[in-house]
Amino acid sequence: VYPRRVTTFEQVIEDLGRVEPRDAMPDDYRATLIRQIAQHAHSEIIGMQPEGAWITRAPSLRRKAILLAKVQDEAGHGLYLYAAAETLGVDRADLLDALHTGRQKYSSIFNYPSLTWADVGTIGWLVDGAAIVNQVPLCRCSYGPYARAMVRICKEESFHQRQGFESLHALSHGTPEQHAMAQDALDRWWWPALMMFGPPDSASPNSERSTAWGIKRFSNDTLRQRFVDMTVPQAAVLGLRIPDDDLAWNEERGSWDFGEVDFAELAEVVAGRGPCNAERIAHKVRADAEGAWVREAADAYAASGGAR
Ligand code: ACO
Repeated sequence: VYPRRVTTFEQVIEDLGRVEPRDAMPDDYRATLIRQIAQHAHSEIIGMQPEGAWITRAPSLRRKAILLAKVQDEAGHGLYLYAAAETLGVDRADLLDALHTGRQKYSSIFNYPSLTWADVGTIGWLVDGAAIVNQVPLCRCSYGPYARAMVRICKEESFHQRQGFESLHALSHGTPEQHAMAQDALDRWWWPALMMFGPPDSASPNSERSTAWGIKRFSNDTLRQRFVDMTVPQAAVLGLRIPDDDLAWNEERGSWDFGEVDFAELAEVVAGRGPCNAERIAHKVRADAEGAWVREAADAYAASGGAR
């Protein structure tokens, strides 16, 4: 009989191993994960709204089918993530209550309106593109259930990003009116997309600890820069202009310099004062109330053991 090897939380983190639900973990680690995974899950669910609004107005059956599938994928991402959060000992109903009452956040990006069909392509290209840059490193995060959920989510996000790019490409190479619509959407979504990566490193209260715990693998500013570097050449293929006069290739750094992100705007949106915050939550609360009978029926059916 071999003695059971006792591995402490600190050793697992140091060895870049995985912490699993039944392992001992510091209370703050658990709380940080619940905060981040819940915020992430809420973002997926609230993120269904700006694009969902265009399902009935998609310009062709093909575009409608793709958009339906994409929005449905976002619901699936939310469900994996709520399930990952539940392994930490919280209840999904409590997390949803925290969202509905403003006690938990969701991504700032979904508080901007989707005004035209070009916004749908732009959201796929930029918002899902930013999500991939942020989330691929999370596939290696120290908490097993979160890391594993991210693997599948990232594969689907990658498809979402490509479909957005392809849709926007059709517009930007279409009629002058379609091109102008694509440019207008890029003008409105570019800066909010950069805000998705969070406050600058110098003003990010959670970064140091989350990095030490292997939840975050790269800083907010590092990922923001990675996103800019990835996206600038793509904008050139689309023939669209990124709305930043300070955008310039920096030979020395091998990266693009870019202008100042308006972090005061990010703070306002995160504080609940963005263009659509009230509308997004009101819609979510209404959908939750209208769906209550479905959950009650499912519970009753489960309690009956499947009997008729
Ligand atoms: N929108 C809303 N809130 C934000 C945003 C944002 N774009 N960026 C940062 N915040 C919040 C943080 O949640 C934190 O709030 P809290 O401490 O009150 O909970 C606060 O601002 C300070 O920021 P940081 O200290 O930098 O927070 P953190 O270390 O959690 O980093 C980040 C923020 C990068 C968003 C991180 O939580 C993360 O990687 N989350 C997982 C990815 C995610 O949630 N993506 C959602 C959008 S993608 C999609 O759904 C398609």
